[in-house]
Amino acid sequence: MSSPAKIALVTGASSGIGAATARRLARDPGTELVLVARRGELLAELAASLPVPATWLAADLTRADAPQLVRAHVEQHHDRLDLLVNNAGAGWRGSFAETGWANVQRHMELNFDAVVRLTEELLPLLRRSAPSAIVNVASTAGRVSRAKSGAYSASKFALIGWTDALNLEEAPHGVHVGMVLPGFIPTEGFPQAELREKALTRLILGTPEQVAEAIHEVGPGGKTERYVPRKYALAAQLRVLAPGLTRRVLGGGAASTLVPAASERRD
Ligand SMILES: NC(=O)c1ccc[n+]([C@@H]2O[C@H](COP(=O)([O-])OP(=O)(O)OC[C@H]3O[C@@H](n4cnc5c(N)ncnc54)[C@H](OP(=O)(O)O)[C@@H]3O)[C@@H](O)[C@H]2O)c1
Repeated sequence: MSSPAKIALVTGASSGIGAATARRLARDPGTELVLVARRGELLAELAASLPVPATWLAADLTRADAPQLVRAHVEQHHDRLDLLVNNAGAGWRGSFAETGWANVQRHMELNFDAVVRLTEELLPLLRRSAPSAIVNVASTAGRVSRAKSGAYSASKFALIGWTDALNLEEAPHGVHVGMVLPGFIPTEGFPQAELREKALTRLILGTPEQVAEAIHEVGPGGKTERYVPRKYALAAQLRVLAPGLTRRVLGGGAASTLVPAASERRD
């Protein structure tokens, strides 16, 4: 008897890291994909271009009924779920004084609450399908905060804290929970325009394909955590070991080069 297909669901699959992840996962024979984001036409295009079966669902994950809609879609097309990649996310820059609690709230709604709510809805299916996995796409900004990215960082710090606990809780149930922490990756929502301008700062950029490879290492591969590019782990270590020095660096001249963690984007 042939083994059942491996079902992988990727949120935020209409562009950037999510689309690259769908393409990477589709290289594994026997995988079937479920693609989720708001722009259905892009998901349909991607699904049609993949070498494995893929269904898609256009959904705004911040809506109250989104988790139920996603679960109903998965149950309608598949009887199992082997991998959930919580990737959908966004950033809107601005200091706290300028953008206030409203900006914190919209980051938390998408980058944290929506991830928690979708995971809650799909966890029973993941447990029934164990061994299975969840990969949360966090950020290096979830380890190191910079000026004008406080709301984005808050949502990713929260995601990382929650992911660590979920990893410990779900291991006995056969659900591996890991995360990927990208650095600066030029994409539609995070164009990193200033960093792309100069040869020197271009060196610190990564690609969506590198992040997709890391997601593959954490999800199907069983790793717990991956920075992309790997050298960004040093920034996280420096923040813990030398907080004063880190703040001096980020508050000085270097900061103006390194600001665009979360950029203005369309809604
Ligand atoms: N690029 C970077 O430098 C970087 C660095 C660290 C972490 N990250 C994280 O990586 C993840 C992917 O970002 P990206 O760089 O690939 O950006 P991106 O190209 O803008 O992709 C974001 C994805 O999220 C989806 N999305 C946004 N709001 C949504 C909503 N309300 N409901 C459902 N889907 C929604 C978007 O699709 P629709 O517009 O079609 O809904 C899109 O597919 C995010 O979690 C981001 O925080 C990125």
